Amino acid sequence: MTPRVLSGIQPSGNLHIGNYLGALGNWVKIQHDYESIFCIVDLHAITVYQKPEELRSKVREIAALFLAAGIDPRHSRIVVQSAVAAHAELAWLLTCVTPMGWLERMTQFKAKAAAQESVGDGLFQYPVLMAADILLYQANIVPVGEDQMQHLELARDIAQRFNSLYGDTFTMPATRLPLVGARVMGLDEPTTKMSKSASGTGHAVALLDPPERIKKTIMRATTDSGSGVDFETMGPGVQNLLNIFQAFSDWTNDQMKAHFSGMRYGDLKKQVAEMTISKLEPIQKRYADITADPAYLESILKDGANAVRPTADATVRLVKERMGIYTETA
Ligand code: TRP
Repeated sequence: MTPRVLSGIQPSGNLHIGNYLGALGNWVKIQHDYESIFCIVDLHAITVYQKPEELRSKVREIAALFLAAGIDPRHSRIVVQSAVAAHAELAWLLTCVTPMGWLERMTQFKAKAAAQESVGDGLFQYPVLMAADILLYQANIVPVGEDQMQHLELARDIAQRFNSLYGDTFTMPATRLPLVGARVMGLDEPTTKMSKSASGTGHAVALLDPPERIKKTIMRATTDSGSGVDFETMGPGVQNLLNIFQAFSDWTNDQMKAHFSGMRYGDLKKQVAEMTISKLEPIQKRYADITADPAYLESILKDGANAVRPTADATVRLVKERMGIYTETA
């Protein structure tokens, strides 16, 4: 059987080159080797307040970016989480087998809760909903970044607990894809991962940034006190710029060394900016074409939800039967 890959992304903030080089670009490359489901998790996004109009447009923006980046909708499913009611339904059923103590240990909950004045219960339940996303489709592989590993581990724990209470029901998801993405760091702060939610104009290059802005952000990137590229002694800022270039170009280490050794930082940045702009240009062009035809985009989302709904509904039905919950007789 073809392994099923599932991943999710929140429709908040702006997709950036870190998302592309670390995840989306790889999904595009490997999508045909798997049965792929890419979820736009709007129910997760509302665990912190979102302006309704922005949320509405973000979902479509992300879907269009997936397509523009090369996700093939005839093969891979792009699914808006809320369009498949089974996500929320399974989340409740799983909530009832999840000890609060497990959720209290989640470091992301602790960090997010500390940043909120009023902490919604949704924020606490966030990892259960994520477990539901994954277990609903019996996904085999869930490619996520380091920051989501604890949530994935929890999904496995919940699956295991359910299986032992009610009998074998859920597949255990693994994490790794054969292709490991680049880890792109913040351009203003090269010791922390580039983030969708970080504010500050010099932090990230968004996939939809115009060329002048891309150039400006990269030219202002933090480097170190050296003046030219030295592969032995470079700091995290220079390393990050080289990483970005290499991930976009697919150059070998030898090619990178031969080309960049001794290069002045200003010239390095110029070349990273040019490379980035040239790689984002075709994506931006396709994005413009796709968003010019809203009916097309709607049809992709509709098809995606329709295609996965039978699997999702079958899982919920099985879970209900196992738990003794009422199910309508067919
Ligand atoms: N929590 C993930 C993040 O913020 C997004 C997510 C939601 C997800 N559901 C998922 C990722 C299911 C993988 C699988 O990055």
